[in-house]
Amino acid sequence: MYRSRLEKNLDKHTLDYVSSISDDEEITIYDIIGSQAHSIMLYENKILSKNELKKILSTLEKIKKEKLTSKSSAEDIHELIETLVIQRAGIAVGGKMHTARSRNDQVALDLRMKIRDDINTICNCILDMVETLVTLAEKHTATAMPLYTHLQQAQIGTFSHFLISYVDALLRDFKRFFDTFDRVNHSPLGAGPIGGTSLPINRNSTAKMLGFSGVVENSIDATSNRDVVAEYVAAIAILMTNLSRMAEDLVIWSTSEFSFVELSDQFSSPSSVMPQKKNPDILELTRGKTARVIGNLVAILSNLKGLASGYGRDLQEIKPSVFLSSRTAISALIVLNSMFATLKVNKQKMNQIADSGYLVALDIAETLVKEGLPFRTAHKIVGKLVQIAHENKISLSELDATEVAKSVSDKEFDAKKLGEIISSINALSSLQNRSSLGSSGISEQKRQIIKRKSMISQYDKKLKNRNTLINSAIDNLFKKVRLLSR
Ligand code: ARG
Repeated sequence: MYRSRLEKNLDKHTLDYVSSISDDEEITIYDIIGSQAHSIMLYENKILSKNELKKILSTLEKIKKEKLTSKSSAEDIHELIETLVIQRAGIAVGGKMHTARSRNDQVALDLRMKIRDDINTICNCILDMVETLVTLAEKHTATAMPLYTHLQQAQIGTFSHFLISYVDALLRDFKRFFDTFDRVNHSPLGAGPIGGTSLPINRNSTAKMLGFSGVVENSIDATSNRDVVAEYVAAIAILMTNLSRMAEDLVIWSTSEFSFVELSDQFSSPSSVMPQKKNPDILELTRGKTARVIGNLVAILSNLKGLASGYGRDLQEIKPSVFLSSRTAISALIVLNSMFATLKVNKQKMNQIADSGYLVALDIAETLVKEGLPFRTAHKIVGKLVQIAHENKISLSELDATEVAKSVSDKEFDAKKLGEIISSINALSSLQNRSSLGSSGISEQKRQIIKRKSMISQYDKKLKNRNTLINSAIDNLFKKVRLLSR
Protein backbone atom coordinates (compact mmCIF):
# COMPACT_ATOMS: atom_id res chain seq x y z
CA MET A 1 0.00 0.00 0.00
CA TYR A 2 2.86 2.37 0.72
CA ARG A 3 4.95 1.62 -2.36
CA SER A 4 4.05 4.51 -4.70
CA ARG A 5 7.65 5.72 -4.60
CA LEU A 6 8.86 2.29 -5.73
CA GLU A 7 8.46 0.63 -9.11
CA LYS A 8 8.32 -3.00 -8.07
CA ASN A 9 6.77 -5.10 -5.30
CA LEU A 10 8.70 -7.33 -2.93
CA ASP A 11 8.91 -10.92 -4.13
CA LYS A 12 7.41 -13.57 -1.87
CA HIS A 13 10.64 -14.52 -0.10
CA THR A 14 11.61 -10.94 0.50
CA LEU A 15 8.15 -10.12 1.82
CA ASP A 16 8.47 -13.03 4.26
CA TYR A 17 11.86 -11.72 5.29
CA VAL A 18 10.62 -8.20 5.85
CA SER A 19 7.20 -8.90 7.30
CA SER A 20 6.37 -8.90 11.01
CA ILE A 21 2.77 -9.87 10.42
CA SER A 22 2.87 -13.19 12.28
CA ASP A 23 4.55 -11.67 15.36
CA ASP A 24 2.08 -8.80 15.22
CA GLU A 25 -0.81 -11.07 16.19
CA GLU A 26 0.07 -10.24 19.80
CA ILE A 27 -0.47 -6.50 19.25
CA THR A 28 -3.42 -6.50 16.85
CA ILE A 29 -5.94 -5.56 19.50
CA TYR A 30 -3.80 -2.67 20.73
CA ASP A 31 -3.30 -1.42 17.20
CA ILE A 32 -7.07 -1.28 16.70
CA ILE A 33 -7.80 0.39 20.04
CA GLY A 34 -4.96 2.85 19.47
CA SER A 35 -6.34 3.66 16.02
CA GLN A 36 -9.76 4.31 17.54
CA ALA A 37 -8.34 6.71 20.13
CA HIS A 38 -6.26 8.42 17.44
CA SER A 39 -9.31 8.84 15.19
CA ILE A 40 -11.41 10.27 18.01
CA MET A 41 -8.63 12.75 18.75
CA LEU A 42 -8.51 13.72 15.04
CA TYR A 43 -12.26 14.36 15.21
CA GLU A 44 -11.97 16.36 18.45
CA ASN A 45 -9.43 18.54 16.68
CA LYS A 46 -11.55 18.93 13.57
CA ILE A 47 -9.27 16.90 11.34
CA LEU A 48 -12.03 14.33 10.78
CA SER A 49 -15.74 15.07 10.44
CA LYS A 50 -18.26 13.29 12.64
CA ASN A 51 -19.36 11.13 9.72
CA GLU A 52 -15.82 10.20 8.80
CA LEU A 53 -15.08 9.25 12.39
CA LYS A 54 -18.24 7.18 12.54
CA LYS A 55 -17.24 5.18 9.46
CA ILE A 56 -13.69 4.63 10.66
CA LEU A 57 -14.74 3.59 14.17
CA SER A 58 -17.43 1.19 13.02
CA THR A 59 -15.07 -0.39 10.49
CA LEU A 60 -12.44 -0.82 13.21
CA GLU A 61 -15.10 -2.33 15.50
CA LYS A 62 -15.85 -4.97 12.88
CA ILE A 63 -12.17 -5.68 12.30
CA LYS A 64 -11.74 -6.11 16.05
CA LYS A 65 -14.05 -9.14 15.96
CA GLU A 66 -12.34 -10.79 13.01
CA LYS A 67 -9.45 -13.18 12.96
CA LEU A 68 -7.01 -11.31 10.77
CA THR A 69 -5.24 -13.59 8.39
CA SER A 70 -1.49 -13.57 8.30
CA LYS A 71 -1.72 -14.45 4.60
CA SER A 72 -1.65 -10.92 3.28
CA SER A 73 0.77 -8.87 1.28
CA ALA A 74 0.93 -6.34 4.13
CA GLU A 75 4.30 -5.97 5.79
CA ASP A 76 2.82 -5.63 9.23
CA ILE A 77 -0.39 -5.28 11.22
CA HIS A 78 -0.41 -1.50 10.83
CA GLU A 79 -0.47 -1.74 7.05
CA LEU A 80 -3.00 -4.58 7.14
CA ILE A 81 -5.48 -2.73 9.35
CA GLU A 82 -5.20 0.50 7.41
CA THR A 83 -5.65 -1.41 4.16
CA LEU A 84 -8.80 -3.08 5.49
CA VAL A 85 -10.21 0.24 6.69
CA ILE A 86 -9.57 1.82 3.30
CA GLN A 87 -11.08 -1.18 1.45
CA ARG A 88 -14.22 -1.05 3.57
CA ALA A 89 -14.71 2.63 4.33
CA GLY A 90 -13.31 3.88 1.03
CA ILE A 91 -10.19 5.90 0.40
CA ALA A 92 -12.00 9.23 0.93
CA VAL A 93 -12.63 8.34 4.57
CA GLY A 94 -10.37 5.38 5.41
CA GLY A 95 -7.49 7.21 3.78
CA LYS A 96 -7.67 9.80 6.56
CA MET A 97 -7.10 7.45 9.49
CA HIS A 98 -3.32 7.57 9.26
CA THR A 99 -3.25 11.38 9.38
CA ALA A 100 -0.69 12.80 11.81
CA ARG A 101 0.82 9.50 12.88
CA SER A 102 3.32 7.00 11.58
CA ARG A 103 3.90 3.31 11.98
CA ASN A 104 6.87 4.36 14.09
CA ASP A 105 4.80 5.89 16.88
CA GLN A 106 2.12 3.25 16.29
CA VAL A 107 4.34 0.25 16.93
CA ALA A 108 5.89 1.96 19.95
CA LEU A 109 2.37 2.50 21.29
CA ASP A 110 1.26 -1.08 20.66
CA LEU A 111 4.32 -2.45 22.41
CA ARG A 112 3.78 -0.27 25.47
CA MET A 113 0.11 -1.27 25.69
CA LYS A 114 1.00 -4.93 25.35
CA ILE A 115 3.75 -4.75 27.98
CA ARG A 116 1.44 -2.82 30.30
CA ASP A 117 -1.10 -5.67 30.19
CA ASP A 118 1.56 -8.35 30.49
CA ILE A 119 3.05 -6.65 33.53
CA ASN A 120 -0.34 -6.79 35.22
CA THR A 121 -0.74 -10.46 34.37
CA ILE A 122 2.75 -11.25 35.64
CA CYS A 123 2.21 -9.24 38.84
CA ASN A 124 -1.02 -11.15 39.52
CA CYS A 125 0.69 -14.48 38.88
CA ILE A 126 3.54 -13.52 41.21
CA LEU A 127 1.10 -12.69 43.99
CA ASP A 128 -0.72 -15.99 43.47
CA MET A 129 2.52 -17.92 43.73
CA VAL A 130 3.68 -15.94 46.75
CA GLU A 131 0.42 -16.76 48.49
CA THR A 132 0.91 -20.46 47.82
CA LEU A 133 4.45 -20.28 49.22
CA VAL A 134 3.33 -18.44 52.35
CA THR A 135 0.52 -20.93 52.94
CA LEU A 136 3.01 -23.78 52.64
CA ALA A 137 5.51 -21.96 54.86
CA GLU A 138 2.87 -21.61 57.59
CA LYS A 139 2.69 -25.40 57.81
CA HIS A 140 6.43 -25.78 58.13
CA THR A 141 7.67 -23.19 60.61
CA ALA A 142 8.95 -26.02 62.81
CA THR A 143 9.99 -28.44 60.09
CA ALA A 144 13.73 -28.59 60.72
CA MET A 145 15.98 -29.07 57.73
CA PRO A 146 19.63 -28.48 56.99
CA LEU A 147 20.68 -25.19 55.48
CA TYR A 148 23.51 -25.46 53.01
CA THR A 149 26.38 -23.30 51.88
CA HIS A 150 28.56 -24.66 49.07
CA LEU A 151 25.85 -27.35 49.10
CA GLN A 152 27.47 -28.63 52.31
CA GLN A 153 25.48 -28.79 55.52
CA ALA A 154 25.73 -25.45 57.32
CA GLN A 155 23.16 -24.70 60.02
CA ILE A 156 19.83 -26.04 61.17
CA GLY A 157 17.01 -24.26 59.38
CA THR A 158 13.36 -24.75 58.68
CA PHE A 159 11.56 -25.49 55.44
CA SER A 160 9.54 -22.32 55.92
CA HIS A 161 12.75 -20.32 55.96
CA PHE A 162 13.57 -21.48 52.42
CA LEU A 163 10.03 -20.79 51.26
CA ILE A 164 10.08 -17.28 52.69
CA SER A 165 13.37 -16.63 50.95
CA TYR A 166 11.57 -17.43 47.69
CA VAL A 167 8.68 -15.20 48.70
CA ASP A 168 11.03 -12.30 49.29
CA ALA A 169 12.74 -12.72 45.93
CA LEU A 170 9.36 -12.85 44.22
CA LEU A 171 8.10 -9.79 46.08
CA ARG A 172 11.15 -7.91 44.83
CA ASP A 173 10.31 -9.15 41.33
CA PHE A 174 6.79 -7.85 41.83
CA LYS A 175 8.13 -4.46 42.86
CA ARG A 176 10.49 -4.41 39.89
CA PHE A 177 7.62 -4.97 37.45
CA PHE A 178 5.39 -2.57 39.32
CA ASP A 179 7.99 0.19 39.06
CA THR A 180 8.80 -0.58 35.42
CA PHE A 181 5.10 -0.12 34.68
CA ASP A 182 5.37 3.56 35.58
CA ARG A 183 7.99 4.07 32.90
CA VAL A 184 6.10 1.96 30.35
CA ASN A 185 2.81 3.74 30.95
CA HIS A 186 3.50 6.80 28.77
CA SER A 187 2.12 7.28 25.30
CA PRO A 188 4.40 7.72 22.28
CA LEU A 189 1.38 8.25 19.99
CA GLY A 190 1.48 11.45 17.95
CA ALA A 191 5.26 11.56 17.83
CA GLY A 192 4.87 10.81 14.12
CA PRO A 193 7.75 9.27 12.19
CA ILE A 194 10.32 11.11 14.35
CA GLY A 195 9.74 14.88 14.47
CA GLY A 196 6.01 15.40 15.12
CA THR A 197 3.43 17.04 12.84
CA SER A 198 2.18 20.44 11.67
CA LEU A 199 -1.42 19.28 12.10
CA PRO A 200 -3.26 20.39 15.25
CA ILE A 201 -3.22 17.11 17.20
CA ASN A 202 -3.54 16.65 20.95
CA ARG A 203 -1.19 13.98 22.24
CA ASN A 204 -2.39 14.30 25.81
CA SER A 205 -5.91 13.48 24.71
CA THR A 206 -4.97 10.13 23.12
CA ALA A 207 -2.74 9.35 26.08
CA LYS A 208 -5.63 9.94 28.48
CA MET A 209 -8.12 7.94 26.39
CA LEU A 210 -5.74 4.99 26.41
CA GLY A 211 -5.15 5.16 30.16
CA PHE A 212 -1.55 6.37 30.03
CA SER A 213 -0.31 8.56 32.84
CA GLY A 214 1.33 10.91 30.33
CA VAL A 215 3.19 11.10 27.03
CA VAL A 216 6.73 10.20 26.04
CA GLU A 217 7.33 13.81 25.23
CA ASN A 218 10.35 14.02 22.95
CA SER A 219 9.26 12.62 19.60
CA ILE A 220 12.73 11.25 18.76
CA ASP A 221 12.86 9.45 22.09
CA ALA A 222 9.25 8.28 21.75
CA THR A 223 9.82 6.56 18.40
CA SER A 224 13.35 5.28 18.57
CA ASN A 225 14.00 4.24 22.13
CA ARG A 226 13.16 0.85 23.53
CA ASP A 227 14.90 1.12 26.88
CA VAL A 228 11.70 0.44 28.79
CA VAL A 229 11.20 -2.68 26.68
CA ALA A 230 14.70 -3.83 27.63
CA GLU A 231 13.91 -2.98 31.26
CA TYR A 232 10.78 -5.13 31.11
CA VAL A 233 12.60 -8.12 29.63
CA ALA A 234 15.43 -7.61 32.14
CA ALA A 235 12.82 -7.86 34.91
CA ILE A 236 11.58 -11.10 33.32
CA ALA A 237 15.12 -12.44 33.05
CA ILE A 238 15.66 -11.73 36.76
CA LEU A 239 12.30 -13.26 37.68
CA MET A 240 13.08 -16.37 35.64
CA THR A 241 16.52 -16.59 37.22
CA ASN A 242 14.82 -16.61 40.62
CA LEU A 243 12.38 -19.30 39.49
CA SER A 244 15.21 -21.28 37.98
CA ARG A 245 17.10 -21.29 41.28
CA MET A 246 13.99 -22.50 43.12
CA ALA A 247 13.62 -25.19 40.47
CA GLU A 248 17.20 -26.29 41.09
CA ASP A 249 16.57 -26.57 44.86
CA LEU A 250 13.56 -28.77 44.16
CA VAL A 251 15.53 -30.90 41.69
CA ILE A 252 18.09 -31.59 44.41
CA TRP A 253 15.58 -32.13 47.20
CA SER A 254 13.49 -34.53 45.14
CA THR A 255 16.39 -36.90 44.40
CA SER A 256 16.21 -40.30 46.13
CA GLU A 257 19.36 -39.33 48.04
CA PHE A 258 17.67 -36.28 49.59
CA SER A 259 13.97 -37.25 49.46
CA PHE A 260 13.02 -34.03 51.24
CA VAL A 261 10.18 -33.44 48.84
CA GLU A 262 8.25 -35.40 46.27
CA LEU A 263 6.74 -33.77 43.22
CA SER A 264 3.16 -34.65 42.59
CA ASP A 265 2.66 -37.07 39.68
CA GLN A 266 0.95 -34.40 37.62
CA PHE A 267 4.20 -32.46 37.60
CA SER A 268 6.60 -35.31 36.90
CA SER A 269 7.63 -37.14 33.76
CA PRO A 270 8.35 -40.84 33.21
CA SER A 271 11.24 -42.32 31.27
CA SER A 272 10.65 -44.08 27.95
CA VAL A 273 12.93 -46.90 29.09
CA MET A 274 13.52 -46.96 32.86
CA PRO A 275 10.23 -47.97 34.47
CA GLN A 276 11.09 -46.65 37.94
CA LYS A 277 11.70 -43.07 36.84
CA LYS A 278 9.92 -39.99 38.04
CA ASN A 279 11.75 -37.10 36.47
CA PRO A 280 11.51 -33.41 37.32
CA ASP A 281 11.29 -32.29 33.67
CA ILE A 282 9.21 -29.24 34.48
CA LEU A 283 11.87 -27.94 36.82
CA GLU A 284 14.57 -28.63 34.28
CA LEU A 285 12.57 -26.86 31.61
CA THR A 286 12.29 -23.87 33.91
CA ARG A 287 16.08 -23.72 34.00
CA GLY A 288 16.21 -24.23 30.21
CA LYS A 289 13.57 -21.60 29.46
CA THR A 290 15.39 -19.16 31.71
CA ALA A 291 18.40 -19.49 29.43
CA ARG A 292 16.22 -18.54 26.47
CA VAL A 293 14.81 -15.51 28.24
CA ILE A 294 18.30 -14.34 29.17
CA GLY A 295 19.11 -14.79 25.47
CA ASN A 296 16.13 -12.59 24.60
CA LEU A 297 17.43 -9.82 26.85
CA VAL A 298 20.86 -10.04 25.28
CA ALA A 299 19.25 -9.98 21.81
CA ILE A 300 17.33 -6.81 22.67
CA LEU A 301 20.30 -4.98 24.14
CA SER A 302 22.50 -6.02 21.20
CA ASN A 303 19.83 -4.77 18.82
CA LEU A 304 19.67 -1.39 20.52
CA LYS A 305 23.24 -0.60 21.31
CA GLY A 306 24.38 0.36 17.81
CA LEU A 307 21.21 2.00 16.53
CA ALA A 308 21.35 5.61 15.44
CA SER A 309 18.57 7.81 16.82
CA GLY A 310 15.37 7.53 14.84
CA TYR A 311 13.39 4.41 13.95
CA GLY A 312 15.38 1.64 12.30
CA ARG A 313 13.76 -1.56 11.06
CA ASP A 314 16.09 -3.49 13.36
CA LEU A 315 13.58 -2.59 16.07
CA GLN A 316 11.02 -4.94 14.53
CA GLU A 317 13.16 -7.88 15.57
CA ILE A 318 12.78 -6.97 19.23
CA LYS A 319 9.11 -7.89 19.29
CA PRO A 320 9.34 -11.71 19.24
CA SER A 321 11.91 -11.57 22.06
CA VAL A 322 9.44 -9.60 24.14
CA PHE A 323 6.43 -11.76 23.39
CA LEU A 324 8.26 -15.02 24.01
CA SER A 325 9.63 -13.69 27.30
CA SER A 326 6.15 -12.64 28.47
CA ARG A 327 4.64 -16.01 27.61
CA THR A 328 7.46 -17.88 29.30
CA ALA A 329 7.25 -15.88 32.51
CA ILE A 330 3.48 -16.25 32.78
CA SER A 331 3.48 -19.99 32.17
CA ALA A 332 6.47 -20.58 34.46
CA LEU A 333 4.69 -18.78 37.29
CA ILE A 334 1.45 -20.69 36.76
CA VAL A 335 3.14 -24.10 36.54
CA LEU A 336 5.52 -23.61 39.47
CA ASN A 337 2.70 -22.24 41.58
CA SER A 338 0.70 -25.44 41.06
CA MET A 339 3.79 -27.50 41.62
CA PHE A 340 4.39 -25.94 45.04
CA ALA A 341 0.70 -26.22 45.88
CA THR A 342 0.82 -29.98 45.30
CA LEU A 343 4.30 -30.65 46.66
CA LYS A 344 4.62 -33.53 49.14
CA VAL A 345 6.96 -32.52 51.94
CA ASN A 346 8.81 -35.30 53.68
CA LYS A 347 8.93 -33.67 57.09
CA GLN A 348 10.31 -36.75 58.81
CA LYS A 349 13.26 -37.07 56.46
CA MET A 350 14.06 -33.38 56.78
CA ASN A 351 13.96 -33.54 60.58
CA GLN A 352 16.02 -36.73 60.67
CA ILE A 353 18.79 -35.28 58.49
CA ALA A 354 18.74 -32.03 60.44
CA ASP A 355 19.34 -33.94 63.67
CA SER A 356 22.20 -36.04 62.28
CA GLY A 357 25.59 -34.71 61.21
CA TYR A 358 27.23 -31.68 62.77
CA LEU A 359 24.68 -28.99 62.02
CA VAL A 360 24.56 -27.80 65.64
CA ALA A 361 28.29 -26.98 65.66
CA LEU A 362 27.75 -23.24 65.49
CA ASP A 363 25.01 -23.43 68.15
CA ILE A 364 27.48 -25.12 70.53
CA ALA A 365 30.14 -22.51 69.75
CA GLU A 366 27.65 -19.69 70.39
CA THR A 367 26.68 -21.24 73.72
CA LEU A 368 30.35 -21.16 74.69
CA VAL A 369 30.43 -17.49 73.66
CA LYS A 370 27.49 -16.89 76.00
CA GLU A 371 29.63 -18.50 78.71
CA GLY A 372 32.26 -15.80 78.08
CA LEU A 373 34.66 -17.48 75.64
CA PRO A 374 36.08 -15.52 72.70
CA PHE A 375 34.36 -16.76 69.53
CA ARG A 376 37.67 -17.85 67.99
CA THR A 377 38.42 -20.12 70.98
CA ALA A 378 34.90 -21.54 70.89
CA HIS A 379 35.27 -22.16 67.13
CA LYS A 380 38.54 -24.01 67.75
CA ILE A 381 37.07 -26.21 70.51
CA VAL A 382 34.00 -27.21 68.51
CA GLY A 383 36.12 -27.78 65.39
CA LYS A 384 38.17 -30.25 67.40
CA LEU A 385 34.99 -31.93 68.73
CA VAL A 386 33.72 -32.38 65.17
CA GLN A 387 37.08 -33.80 64.09
CA ILE A 388 37.02 -36.42 66.85
CA ALA A 389 33.37 -37.31 66.24
CA HIS A 390 33.97 -37.58 62.49
CA GLU A 391 36.99 -39.89 63.05
CA ASN A 392 34.84 -42.11 65.27
CA LYS A 393 31.88 -41.90 62.85
CA ILE A 394 29.54 -40.69 65.59
CA SER A 395 27.46 -37.59 66.20
CA LEU A 396 28.53 -34.83 68.62
CA SER A 397 25.99 -35.97 71.22
CA GLU A 398 27.50 -39.47 71.12
CA LEU A 399 30.97 -38.26 72.23
CA ASP A 400 31.90 -39.58 75.68
CA ALA A 401 33.57 -37.58 78.46
CA THR A 402 37.14 -38.57 77.54
CA GLU A 403 36.61 -37.69 73.90
CA VAL A 404 35.14 -34.33 74.89
CA ALA A 405 38.08 -33.67 77.22
CA LYS A 406 40.52 -34.17 74.31
CA SER A 407 39.10 -31.15 72.55
CA VAL A 408 39.48 -28.60 75.30
CA SER A 409 42.22 -27.58 77.76
CA ASP A 410 41.35 -26.85 81.39
CA LYS A 411 42.27 -23.22 81.12
CA GLU A 412 39.99 -22.82 78.10
CA PHE A 413 36.80 -24.34 79.44
CA ASP A 414 35.57 -26.98 81.84
CA ALA A 415 35.25 -30.28 79.91
CA LYS A 416 32.36 -31.54 82.03
CA LYS A 417 30.36 -28.39 81.41
CA LEU A 418 31.17 -28.65 77.71
CA GLY A 419 29.74 -32.19 77.72
CA GLU A 420 26.53 -30.87 79.30
CA ILE A 421 26.25 -28.12 76.73
CA ILE A 422 26.67 -30.60 73.87
CA SER A 423 23.95 -32.88 75.15
CA SER A 424 21.54 -29.99 75.73
CA ILE A 425 21.65 -28.88 72.08
CA ASN A 426 19.65 -30.43 69.25
CA ALA A 427 17.84 -29.28 66.12
CA LEU A 428 14.76 -28.14 68.02
CA SER A 429 16.66 -26.22 70.71
CA SER A 430 18.72 -24.61 67.97
CA LEU A 431 15.56 -23.35 66.29
CA GLN A 432 14.04 -22.24 69.59
CA ASN A 433 17.11 -20.21 70.55
CA ARG A 434 17.72 -18.58 67.19
CA SER A 435 16.14 -15.16 67.42
CA SER A 436 18.11 -12.76 65.22
CA LEU A 437 16.12 -10.81 62.66
CA GLY A 438 15.40 -12.87 59.55
CA SER A 439 16.90 -16.06 60.99
CA SER A 440 15.57 -19.62 60.99
CA GLY A 441 14.28 -19.37 64.55
CA ILE A 442 10.71 -20.66 64.91
CA SER A 443 9.37 -17.42 66.38
CA GLU A 444 11.14 -15.51 63.62
CA GLN A 445 9.44 -17.71 61.02
CA LYS A 446 6.06 -16.84 62.43
CA ARG A 447 6.86 -13.13 62.50
CA GLN A 448 8.22 -13.18 58.94
CA ILE A 449 5.11 -14.92 57.69
CA ILE A 450 2.75 -12.38 59.29
CA LYS A 451 4.74 -9.54 57.74
CA ARG A 452 4.72 -11.15 54.26
CA LYS A 453 0.98 -11.68 54.46
CA SER A 454 0.40 -8.02 55.04
CA MET A 455 2.83 -7.16 52.21
CA ILE A 456 0.85 -9.40 49.87
CA SER A 457 -2.40 -7.64 50.68
CA GLN A 458 -0.79 -4.20 50.31
CA TYR A 459 0.69 -5.12 46.92
CA ASP A 460 -2.58 -6.65 45.83
CA LYS A 461 -4.43 -3.44 46.67
CA LYS A 462 -1.91 -1.30 44.78
CA LEU A 463 -2.19 -3.55 41.75
CA LYS A 464 -6.00 -3.48 41.81
CA ASN A 465 -6.05 0.31 42.14
CA ARG A 466 -3.81 0.69 39.17
CA ASN A 467 -5.78 -1.79 37.08
CA THR A 468 -8.96 0.07 37.92
CA LEU A 469 -7.44 3.29 36.53
CA ILE A 470 -6.44 1.66 33.23
CA ASN A 471 -9.65 -0.34 32.91
CA SER A 472 -11.87 2.64 33.53
CA ALA A 473 -9.96 4.67 30.90
CA ILE A 474 -10.36 1.85 28.37
CA ASP A 475 -14.04 1.40 29.33
CA ASN A 476 -14.62 5.10 28.73
CA LEU A 477 -12.88 4.85 25.38
CA PHE A 478 -15.10 1.91 24.41
CA LYS A 479 -18.18 3.88 25.47
CA LYS A 480 -17.02 6.79 23.32
CA VAL A 481 -16.43 4.42 20.41
CA ARG A 482 -19.94 2.99 20.76
CA LEU A 483 -21.48 6.43 20.97
CA LEU A 484 -19.53 7.90 18.06
CA SER A 485 -19.87 4.92 15.73
CA ARG A 486 -23.65 4.92 15.95
N1 ARG B 1 6.64 -3.58 11.48
C1 ARG B 1 7.39 -2.47 12.00
C2 ARG B 1 7.92 -2.84 13.41
O1 ARG B 1 7.48 -3.79 13.92
C3 ARG B 1 6.51 -1.28 12.14
C4 ARG B 1 7.15 0.01 11.92
C5 ARG B 1 7.63 0.16 10.53
N2 ARG B 1 8.12 1.46 10.30
C6 ARG B 1 8.87 1.78 9.23
N3 ARG B 1 9.24 2.98 9.11
N4 ARG B 1 9.19 0.86 8.35
O2 ARG B 1 8.78 -2.19 13.92
